[in-house]
Amino acid sequence: MYRFLRFPLAALLFVFALPACDSAVDAPPEEDGAGNTLRALAQAHEVEIGAAAATGLPTSDARYGDVLGREFGLLAAENAMKFGPLQPTQGNFSFREADALVDFAEAHDMRVRGHALVWHNQNPSWLTNGNRTREQMMDILRTHITTVVTRYADQIDAWDVVNEAVNDDGSLRETIWSETIGPEYIELAFRWAHEADPDARLFYNDYGAEGTGRKSDAVYALAQNLLQEGVPIHGVGLQMHVSTDWAPRPSDVAANMARLGDLGLEVQITEMDVRMPLPPTDDKELMQAGVYADMLDVCLDAWNCTAFVLWGFTDRHSWVPSTFNGQGAALIFDEDYVPKYAYTALQQVLERAD
Ligand code: G3I
Repeated sequence: MYRFLRFPLAALLFVFALPACDSAVDAPPEEDGAGNTLRALAQAHEVEIGAAAATGLPTSDARYGDVLGREFGLLAAENAMKFGPLQPTQGNFSFREADALVDFAEAHDMRVRGHALVWHNQNPSWLTNGNRTREQMMDILRTHITTVVTRYADQIDAWDVVNEAVNDDGSLRETIWSETIGPEYIELAFRWAHEADPDARLFYNDYGAEGTGRKSDAVYALAQNLLQEGVPIHGVGLQMHVSTDWAPRPSDVAANMARLGDLGLEVQITEMDVRMPLPPTDDKELMQAGVYADMLDVCLDAWNCTAFVLWGFTDRHSWVPSTFNGQGAALIFDEDYVPKYAYTALQQVLERAD
């Protein structure tokens, strides 16, 4: 199995390439100079390195803000730009938290990735409890997309337009949008986003479709169909929520990126984290580092992979422990913002790649 092959590679990486492994990962990155930050190293490549930011934290927690602004060139809103937070009551948009993230990004010379315009989760109760006609739902969706995309047209140049519309078996997920508007809600969402900002790059984003398999095939087919219909879709987001027990094979991810590239589509790794059974150990963290390194390698090798985004960056703030019982430690900084092996592994990949 892939995971058994991967571990020796990760171990070799650190044993031979990093003889002072412990001191290297323990040293705060700024002691190595700003040139060693992930965002600085990424400048040699055509891939942006990003992280999702929790609502409020960049400005309320100095350590959080320092690491985020120092290490990452791209910021995604973990929650603040979803439908519920942005439109808590119908027609009344609440941009305060989203604006704060955009302002933070601007102040730190970061770009912003928009996430997510249409999803089945984190919708406000006025929307999910309503009993509305197809026309009313189309009107609501169009208004939401137009308002949000227009507002951030100058700051956000890539949006997850539709998030997680496909089931694991490849069928279309039944959501409030598909049930009221029909499956065409997907293409309508892309068309409305494009009308609102013709320069924005528009993504379909999903999990479990990173490598090969039924879901990946279905996402590929969906993107292909949208392109054939002339729908303005520019890329596919591969979320990459994986674990030390299971991750897609890098060669499969590379093949998937290549076939999407053959359609003319960009790809981005949009939500990477690598959870592990708790408690963390050195062995598990080395294995985790190998997974992160492998996926960044794949992204750097793919001509159409333009961003590598983590779903958070510190184990202090991660969706994983509350969702996966007994698992966590999924990110590249620990709970005290100390860089883990995974951080150093990403640095090394960026330093070594052509
Ligand atoms: O906003 C309320 C807050 O007012 C309240 O005090 C608090 C108490 O629990 O809850 C807050 O809302 C939570 C929100 O995160 C902000 O912390 C929601 O209950 C909680 O469900 C929500 O979880 C988010 C989840 O999406 C929602 O499904 C996670 O943080 C976020 O990491 C996760 O992100 C998703 C991506 O958008 C799509 N791909 C999968 C990924 C992981 O599930």
